[in-house]
Amino acid sequence: MSSKADLIVGLQWGDEGKGKIVDHLAQTHDFVCRFAGGHNAGHTIVVEGKKYALHLIPSGVLNPKGKNIVGNGVVLSPVNFIKEMSQFDDLEGRLFISDKAHLLLPYHALIDQAKERLKGDKAIGTTGKGIGPAYGDKIARVGHRVGELLDCEKLASKIIDYFEQNHSIFEVMEIETPKKDELVAELEGYKKVLAPYITDTTQLLWRVLNEDKKVLLEGAQGTMLDIDHGTYPFVTSSTTVSAGACSGLGINPKDIGRVTGIAKAYCTRVGNGPFPSEDLGSDGERLRKNGHEFGTTTGRPRRCGWFDAVALRHAVRINGVDQIALMKLDVLDGFEEIKVCVAYEINGKRIDYVPYDLEDAKPIYKSFKGWNKTEGVRDFDELPQNAKDYIVALEEMVSCKMGIVSTSPDREDTIIR
Ligand code: GDP
Ligand code: IMO
Ligand code: MG
Repeated sequence: MSSKADLIVGLQWGDEGKGKIVDHLAQTHDFVCRFAGGHNAGHTIVVEGKKYALHLIPSGVLNPKGKNIVGNGVVLSPVNFIKEMSQFDDLEGRLFISDKAHLLLPYHALIDQAKERLKGDKAIGTTGKGIGPAYGDKIARVGHRVGELLDCEKLASKIIDYFEQNHSIFEVMEIETPKKDELVAELEGYKKVLAPYITDTTQLLWRVLNEDKKVLLEGAQGTMLDIDHGTYPFVTSSTTVSAGACSGLGINPKDIGRVTGIAKAYCTRVGNGPFPSEDLGSDGERLRKNGHEFGTTTGRPRRCGWFDAVALRHAVRINGVDQIALMKLDVLDGFEEIKVCVAYEINGKRIDYVPYDLEDAKPIYKSFKGWNKTEGVRDFDELPQNAKDYIVALEEMVSCKMGIVSTSPDREDTIIR
């Protein structure tokens, strides 16, 4: 008998608080695995008042006994990964990087930034980290994989060939072809640090599942940023939904057990694109202030608004969510009225599902009575009645149980129902 992996997935536009829940569950799991995205992700975790910002290293790293896998579905920037690794001095034997993960090299970030500049007011508002170009190369079959770092001479030649083949594009973007010897030296630097961690993580994962070990799969970004199911083209370039865990790690759907979807008690989004329940007035401002809604990766102010029950229902179905962790309930403390988007109005019609395009969707709201204080509450029964009523109403709207409720950034301020 092999064990089944638990999966954590973001249900909104990212930054739902996945890091906190992964960290919480990591305490009881042997392995934590990232399956998609790159260092566009930013997961803030607070342990005993100390703040950690993680981008690519799985959030299980804060559990000293936990082992961590960076799967093949990830795009890995050696420069940033090495920087992130330097925060920890106990990674040996507990960090494993897939040889099939794709390399995100400095030129990918330059291309990303140049493309955004050229798009002007049509820009996606990417993190500028090179995610789209790195995944673009992967899909176009001109990318380079982490395993290639083991032969830097050969990899450098392939990168120079790539520059020559794309000469005209690089010229427009004013990106210079690297010099071979400098490139080899740069790659050797990456290899020196990363080589001990590079392995066939799929074989490793199959083995640990067969050994009945407890495995947690850590999603990045959120469902509405998924390349297929999000608000295209204002999305990221990977499969962020639960299906991505299979292709991004080399496991099959039957290897997945419980799916926990993470959602905030309200809603945010960074970057451009449709966001029907955005509040551009004082309530949105207050959510941003109360929730410290500024990006972990880019520091940008996050756009804020109300819980979108339509998008959430869509996310529950796509991901096969068994339970929701409702995060940042405390950020709603003190609001007199709390709104929830229960349907959209598009061209005069009421729509209760996520359609092809959300561009013209206007929110139809239902109002709830606010409450005084939930911050730091650790027992469901101790929540104010209006907060309990809000949670129960959301559960009904999205047809899913909210098994976890979070009331502060701290690891301990978590209600398990
Ligand atoms: P992730 O990308 O989904 O991991 O989320 P981020 O880390 O980017 O953003 C979530 C932010 O909310 C972090 O700063 C967390 O410390 C914080 N946070 C998580 N849960 C709670 C909560 O219940 N209440 C409050 N006030 N903050 C929380
Ligand atoms: P975590 O894991 C929130 C957004 C960017 C932009 C779009 C495309 O912390 O939830 P990209 O750089 O990926 O090409 O940008 O996706 N985005 C995120 N927003 N949280 C994230 O990750 C995000 N990762 C990407 O802001 O709108
Ligand atoms: Mg984040």
